[in-house]
Amino acid sequence: MLQPADQSTIERAAAILKRGGLVAFPTETVYGLGADATNARAVARIFEVKARPQFDPIIVHVASADAAHALWTRCPEPAAALMRAFWPGPLTLVLPKTERIPDLVTAGLPMVAVRMPDHPVALRLIQLAGCPVAAPSANRFGRASPTTAAAVEEELGEGVDLILDGGPARIGIESTVLAFDDGTPVLLRPGGVTVESLREAVGPIAMRGRPAQRRASPGMLQRHYAPRTPLYLLEEAEAPADGLLAATGTVGLLSLTPASLPVPVGHAEVLSPSGDLVEAAARFFQALRRLDQRGLDLLIAVPMPRHGLGLALMDRLTKAASGRAWIKHGTVLLAGHGTVTRRPA
Ligand code: TXA
Ligand code: MG
Repeated sequence: MLQPADQSTIERAAAILKRGGLVAFPTETVYGLGADATNARAVARIFEVKARPQFDPIIVHVASADAAHALWTRCPEPAAALMRAFWPGPLTLVLPKTERIPDLVTAGLPMVAVRMPDHPVALRLIQLAGCPVAAPSANRFGRASPTTAAAVEEELGEGVDLILDGGPARIGIESTVLAFDDGTPVLLRPGGVTVESLREAVGPIAMRGRPAQRRASPGMLQRHYAPRTPLYLLEEAEAPADGLLAATGTVGLLSLTPASLPVPVGHAEVLSPSGDLVEAAARFFQALRRLDQRGLDLLIAVPMPRHGLGLALMDRLTKAASGRAWIKHGTVLLAGHGTVTRRPA
């Protein structure tokens, strides 16, 4: 079921998509779980296999800009400029949809998200299938995105008809998702194309749902990208005076550059010893998976710089976290939803 992505396997995968099956395939960001985007029954299977709630819309993948235009009723000039600048690549554009896209794909929204991936296997697959390909990240809902074919198999196993193995994903973090408000780009999800480079190409980008705002209203904190082991995001600000619990058990540590804690660390993952955010993004989800497989009691993540790809990494960490941590008087103090300090049995 997991097959190296050579020409004949890609042909087989395209045939599976044509008859309404599911194929996991590599992209430059993360692996996707694909179905024919014009076939509502095939798309329904994506929701089933991922255990994904039907209110969460899916990105449609195309192999050319023309194929994208065929799915939208209009495309404002800033969107066209962004396509010229960043396609193929990790940029998803959300625009009004045509009838060709079933409501299930967009969760009933009048807009469809479309991107052209920068990966030869993905592009070949879409061309051979001859249809736009709806594909969320190939993980179970709410969990870390897979950046290798083996991680897809671990996540979805039997549910997929074929997994195309194209090696580890080059970028390692999902695409940037942009909508448009009167022609002004609005950031829905930071990702592989940095906000800095978007601004350079088209000017102002409206930011929505910044991590600081989400922390300010915990009810909006959507749990996503989450490991099974409780993950706490380290705070730099001073700890609140009460309501905190001292961490017990063995800790896993995730950081950009080498870091230390005043408590025993069972396993540490350093994303980039030199602090390179591109290298860090490429290693992020695999590092999270490795930490989750170590049987640790809790994980602590050191915040990333909030620029470049660090913005996307902080977005994923904030959503993956079940609480926050502070270092004080030689201990690690925790606060979280129910303040889990021991791994659930
Ligand atoms: O890099 C990526 O984007 C990967 C690869 C496989 O292409 N895909 C991916 O898909 O990350 P997924 O389903 O895990 O995340 C898609 C995001 C979700 O946050 C979803 O809410 C948003 O895009 N989205 C999709 N369609 C939308 C729409 N019509 N309006 C607003 N947001 C949409
Ligand atoms: Mg996802």
